[in-house]
Amino acid sequence: MLIEPLSETELNTVYSEILSPLAWDLGHIANFEELWLVQRVGGREPLDGELGRFYDAIENPRKTRNELPLLRGPELRSYMDEVRARTLEVLDGAELDDGADPMLEAGFIYEMLIAHEHQHNETMLQLLQHVDGYPRPGLDPAIAAEPVAEGPEMVAVDGGTAEIGAAATGFAYDNERPAHERELDSFEIDRTPVTNGAFAAYVAETGAEPPMFWERDGEGGWLDARFGLREPLDPALPVAHVSWEGAADYAAWAGKRLPSEFEWERAAEGSDPARANFDHLGYGTAPAGAYADGASRWGAVQMMGDLWEWTASRFEAYPGFSAFPYPEYSEVFFGGDYRVLRGGSWAARREVVRRSFRNWDHPYRRQIFAGFRCARDA
Ligand SMILES: [Fe+2]
Repeated sequence: MLIEPLSETELNTVYSEILSPLAWDLGHIANFEELWLVQRVGGREPLDGELGRFYDAIENPRKTRNELPLLRGPELRSYMDEVRARTLEVLDGAELDDGADPMLEAGFIYEMLIAHEHQHNETMLQLLQHVDGYPRPGLDPAIAAEPVAEGPEMVAVDGGTAEIGAAATGFAYDNERPAHERELDSFEIDRTPVTNGAFAAYVAETGAEPPMFWERDGEGGWLDARFGLREPLDPALPVAHVSWEGAADYAAWAGKRLPSEFEWERAAEGSDPARANFDHLGYGTAPAGAYADGASRWGAVQMMGDLWEWTASRFEAYPGFSAFPYPEYSEVFFGGDYRVLRGGSWAARREVVRRSFRNWDHPYRRQIFAGFRCARDA
């Protein structure tokens, strides 16, 4: 379990203005499960009706979450245990996939809650990288040893009609629907994500802002400073923790551009999610060019897993969008300055991320496990 090694102090420390203290995430995961499964599906009263206000992600900005009267210590643990016990009772008596009102359809809610918890695990991992001395398991040797295939710098992707979004059946978030077609021009896209080595050359030439967690080693090189460790930066790994602005500026410097999210989705057709670095098993990325046997039909590798990839696109509703199961998941974020990221990361769960999955954040943010690859017109 991710939080097992942490002290009560570490659980309640604010490490970054844009990340919640871990105790908030834990209470929020349990409270969200209680709200949707115990109350709405199970029709039961909450254990403490006041808690919902403090664990509402929209009402409470991250930087003020530690000032709330949150559950802490043994109280938090027993709340988590009690909610989980009540959830299991409800699920025991629930008809899964019985075709009832989809708002209260237990099968959908069950999958949504699992995805929600897994997505919070990823944000908790973002924070854990700031915790000095967190006993990170070493990079999984199997991931570090993934063979790297040689190949062209860019691969060609045919234009034409692209199928975008998630089919009407099966679990997906509202923002991935409805599935629809888009006409795309032919384009080229980088075969692999941009590497630390390439980004370091760009920073050296332009003086651009380095990614988060890079520290100068005093000899002209860079260290990777995460989990309280200082390790030489590996130039062969995909560059991580760049902002959208940094990625877009790099692309322009390289004579390229970021792909639109639709180009990204097209370029990822045929990618094998089973041959991808997911599930935070590795605590890091495989070298750029790995998993060539899981490449997309166009030959682009690592589109799924390793790192989220910034795209040029703003986060907007697809034509015919309808909010489900609640507007606060996606709808309230449409039309802002958010840019879309695709493909999942080593810290995301394999079963949560689909080719159509859309993540989003502000263009200046760097806490996401995000890198990028470039594109250009054919
Ligand atoms: Fe949440």
